[in-house]
Amino acid sequence: MKVIPLLNQRDDSGKTTVATHLTRDFQLEGRFILLVDSDPQEDAHDRATVRG
Ligand SMILES: Nc1ncnc2c1ncn2[C@@H]1O[C@H](COP(=O)(O)OP(=O)(O)OP(=O)(O)O)[C@@H](O)[C@H]1O
Ligand SMILES: [Mg+2]
Repeated sequence: MKVIPLLNQRDDSGKTTVATHLTRDFQLEGRFILLVDSDPQEDAHDRATVRG
């Protein structure tokens, strides 16, 4: 199992954007991927790119 951490101390640096786009890209390649959103804002939860 590979783990890809996307971390940055700065706010608004694009962490969630990159995470959700990577997730969708891997999905479209037919890979199994689990996006873990450890941010209390749960922003990744709300983004349409992670659906389907
Ligand atoms: N490559 C990019 N070019 C332009 N805008 C971008 C890019 N990546 C992200 N953004 C925009 O920057 C803003 C912050 O992105 P994002 O929410 O992904 O950052 P974050 O690091 O997850 O923020 P937070 O620390 O609040 O969780 C969003 O409005 C997003 O649409
Ligand atoms: Mg975020």
